[in-house]
Amino acid sequence: MVGYSAYKLEAAMFYLRVVTGFIGLAMIASITYAGERVINKSRVPTGQLSTVKTLKNPLPNTPATLVKGKIIYEQKGRCILCHGVKGDGKGSAGVPPDPQPSPRSFRNLEWQKIRTDGELQWVISSGSHGSGMHSYDGILTDEEIWQVVLYIRSFGHQ
Ligand code: HEC
Repeated sequence: MVGYSAYKLEAAMFYLRVVTGFIGLAMIASITYAGERVINKSRVPTGQLSTVKTLKNPLPNTPATLVKGKIIYEQKGRCILCHGVKGDGKGSAGVPPDPQPSPRSFRNLEWQKIRTDGELQWVISSGSHGSGMHSYDGILTDEEIWQVVLYIRSFGHQ
């Protein structure tokens, strides 16, 4: 009889270990697989894409503009909180388990190549639906948005 209940206990413990093991695995998987959205789909709605893609940054690419963009990124716009000081998407609000999807890493050279300046400007002023990336319309001026676009580009040159 004693042997039988010990066996039952052993079986219950085994079952518990399997279950907690699965929960642990699921948690690790969700952290590993959670991440940035795919880069090959523009955030700009299809109907506007061809126009937005052709927009050019009207500001000169000079060290002075870049410094202004950096100030917007780190202070007024607080982009740094999510996108990180190095632009790698690992700001304090962007590390796992962060609200999904993860903030974009601007150090991804493929992403830098795929997106035009117009698409960056659009997403900053309109936001990216279903993500922490909200609209900066009314928070940043057009000029400030173009300044920060230039600064984001600089992460692709480092
Ligand atoms: C609260 C967190 C948060 C803040 C603050 C934030 N972002 Fe984002 N940003 C995100 C997330 C999350 C994404 C990913 C959205 C997606 O993939 O659709 C993103 C995506 C982007 C993208 C790329 C979209 C694409 O086409 O792939 C750009 C550009 C961007 N942010 C610029 C900025 C700028 C500039 C600021 C500051 C003015 C800023 N973000 C502030 C969370 C944030």
